[in-house]
Amino acid sequence: MYLAPKAPRSPSAWGAAPGFNVYEDTSAESVIRSCAIESRFQRCLHGDLNSWGDAPGYYEIAPLAPNRVQPRVLMISEAMQNRDSLGDTPPEEFRGQLHALADWIADFRQNIDSLRVAPDDKLGATLANIPTQPPEQGDSFDKILSDVDRLIVPGMVHWSHPMFLGYFGWTTTAPGILGEIITAPLNVNAMTWRTSPAATELETLVIDWIRQWVHLPQEFGGVVYDTASVGVMHALAVAREEAAPSVRKRGLIGAGAPVFRIYASEQAHSSAEKAAIALGLGEENVQRIPTDSAFCMESSALREIITRDLREGFRPLAVIATVGTTSTASVDPVREIARICREFKLWLHIDGAYGAGFAILPECESLTAGWSDADSIVVNPHKSLFVPLDFSVLYVRDLERLRRVFTLVPEYLRGDTVEAQKNYMDYGIQLGRRFRALKAWVIFRSFGRDGMAARLREHIRLANRFADWIRNDDRFELAAPVSMGVVCFGFIGAAKDKLDKLNSEIVERINASGCAYLTQTKLRGRTVMRIGIGNVLTTEEHLRKAWLLIREMADAIGT
Ligand SMILES: Cc1ncc(COP(=O)(O)O)c(C=O)c1O
Repeated sequence: MYLAPKAPRSPSAWGAAPGFNVYEDTSAESVIRSCAIESRFQRCLHGDLNSWGDAPGYYEIAPLAPNRVQPRVLMISEAMQNRDSLGDTPPEEFRGQLHALADWIADFRQNIDSLRVAPDDKLGATLANIPTQPPEQGDSFDKILSDVDRLIVPGMVHWSHPMFLGYFGWTTTAPGILGEIITAPLNVNAMTWRTSPAATELETLVIDWIRQWVHLPQEFGGVVYDTASVGVMHALAVAREEAAPSVRKRGLIGAGAPVFRIYASEQAHSSAEKAAIALGLGEENVQRIPTDSAFCMESSALREIITRDLREGFRPLAVIATVGTTSTASVDPVREIARICREFKLWLHIDGAYGAGFAILPECESLTAGWSDADSIVVNPHKSLFVPLDFSVLYVRDLERLRRVFTLVPEYLRGDTVEAQKNYMDYGIQLGRRFRALKAWVIFRSFGRDGMAARLREHIRLANRFADWIRNDDRFELAAPVSMGVVCFGFIGAAKDKLDKLNSEIVERINASGCAYLTQTKLRGRTVMRIGIGNVLTTEEHLRKAWLLIREMADAIGT
């Protein structure tokens, strides 16, 4: 039930309360639900308190007789009702806006198929239609939402569109949207346990669920960051500290640190270099290791390059093995790499940003071979476990190693730091932290492991279906083995020296058409097309349409 405004009662009935209006309602629960002001008020409604005159911002409530349902009387500040006065949107107006937004979201999701996947805008097209002056006066939500429809939605690449086949597809789901919505009003800062006990504990819980799903031993603990790039940077910071123990205190030069080297395959993600830049290790000290015909790291080449570096006076620090590389979703031979890491006493980081999620499928359990020998592993549920961006977990064997490098409690946080509890601010450079675990919890509970596994299995099936169509058309060829939801392929029906340009142009033109969205990459120096299937809305029919489009585009420009 919804609180209806009533004419203000005589202030003398409730005490002099200038600036407050009085509302009446028959249901205590509805008052609590719709107003949810603060627990003191709820206790008052339930008869625990006779007055809450000292509650900040509120004046007085009618005296409550013991043991009887009271007339629900609530005084709400006029500031809450009047747009022009200070305070938030009035509650009843906010409720209306939420209903309108719920319809907007449901309509968007239901009709997303009818939108262009990508705009045909020129650079600056969105800004050209938006006033560049910051607003002096406030606008109504109606107006703002209609501007979202008019100015923003048409200027988007719709990653949630079922014909969006770029990168790894995308993870938007209805439960994910609900999870994001629930998180918004809570708007907590999950920096320490005390500042947000439930957020901290739920984070620990979902981290452990994922750990179990990807078959990591219990000695691995984790922390949620925004992205895998941030995860690898933190992992390498720990590796660096363990190799040169006073870097945290005295810096690289003060600690007399050697020139460290990090190893990753030529197919590994560029976040390796970004981490080296951020940590002062130097971009050039990330050594790229050649890959075999399936784009997996050659462990013999790794060994040779480490040996060469040792000879030349470098200090090998860490190896990044990738499970699901960015271009082809190839999987490095983690077991062999782990053996080399043990032999040379190197930190082993596994970049499972994309591939780790597939380990929840029993038939893909072999993906996790050698993981228990790793020092750190990154898993991005926002890439393959249906959690909306952003949600990335860094696991470290013995999480205390990470805490030792990053814990730092200034005096102003000491009161909110219960040392016996996990304070996630201790596990990275970020102090303020979103309540990311909630959306993951909503999705994981909504789908269950079974539901996620079934969807991942379908994505693998679709990728293989698409690969079959390529195999059956001799103007095209697969450019890499099909792995998880990723297919790399090339158009080969023209003169060899024209193929790079043609493949790139097919992708560009399809993306410009707004009918589908693909990506392109370079493999062994050749430009190839690439699709990633990860969207729960993408069906075989969508894929068939994309394939038709690719063939038509190749016909149009390739002959
Ligand atoms: C294999 C791999 N690792 C790391 C990353 C970086 O992920 P994030 O965007 O979460 O930093 C990506 C991004 O696509 C990736 O494919």
